Amino acid sequence: MEVFDCIKSRRCVRKFLSKEVVWDKIATIIDAGRMAPSAGNLQNWKFIVVLDADKKNNVAEACLKQHWIAEAAAIIVMVGEPEKARRFYGERGASIYTAQNCAAAAENMLLEATALGLGSCWVGAFNEEAVRRTLGMPDDVTPSIIIPIGYSAEKPEEPAKFPLENVAYFQGWRSKIRDMPAYIDYHSIALQRNIAKGKEFAEKGGKTLMEKGKEIAQKISNKLKEKYKKHPAKEEFREVHK
Ligand SMILES: Cc1cc2nc3c(=O)[nH]c(=O)nc-3n(C[C@H](O)[C@H](O)[C@H](O)COP(=O)(O)O)c2cc1C
Repeated sequence: MEVFDCIKSRRCVRKFLSKEVVWDKIATIIDAGRMAPSAGNLQNWKFIVVLDADKKNNVAEACLKQHWIAEAAAIIVMVGEPEKARRFYGERGASIYTAQNCAAAAENMLLEATALGLGSCWVGAFNEEAVRRTLGMPDDVTPSIIIPIGYSAEKPEEPAKFPLENVAYFQGWRSKIRDMPAYIDYHSIALQRNIAKGKEFAEKGGKTLMEKGKEIAQKISNKLKEKYKKHPAKEEFREVHK
């Protein structure tokens, strides 16, 4: 599976089939987590795999009673070791880097689970003390992210995500790039938009208009392609990265 396809198809799954997940797959998922970047390559993390039904129930209870979590075949609890990072990077290491390291590992695991045909979810809402108690963790380590994994019993809709142009700035805060997809040579969005416009136009007027509509859509798309070939931001980007 292509990485970007995997990223796009990953969804948070909250309903699981009562079907076992073979150990190989769980181990591969943790292996993917282990490969994540970490500040100074500290790898100040541990992965606790929970399979026991009672323990899974206790973890779900500690996750502010998100009982669906217990239905997962396995739960991986990502644990950060802040003191290791504090030694090198002080408070920033203990709090921010440790959380970021765990987040990077967690996303790797969610993606690997997706690639293996499994459902998973990122769970961040839990009572730290209750998770510590359930899994016998000492006070100097921090449960960071909880990841239930199993075969999905649902196909969640893709939740709305902000368009690229709303979240990307160029060279500075609030410096927006118009038609960002075209800027990154992703013309298909502009094309699809125009084809849809053409179709709508044509559907109103029958066959001759259908042809006219297609022609218009094609013209607009060609114009767009031409325009963004020499997009000023693109030129600047090239200059900066020469
Ligand atoms: C920091 C963080 C905490 C989250 N905590 C929970 C949680 O406690 N329970 C839950 O069901 N989903 C949780 N989620 C999952 C989000 O609800 C989910 O990622 C979001 O709705 C987008 O859906 P998607 O992951 O399918 O794109 C959390 C996600 C993140 C990043």
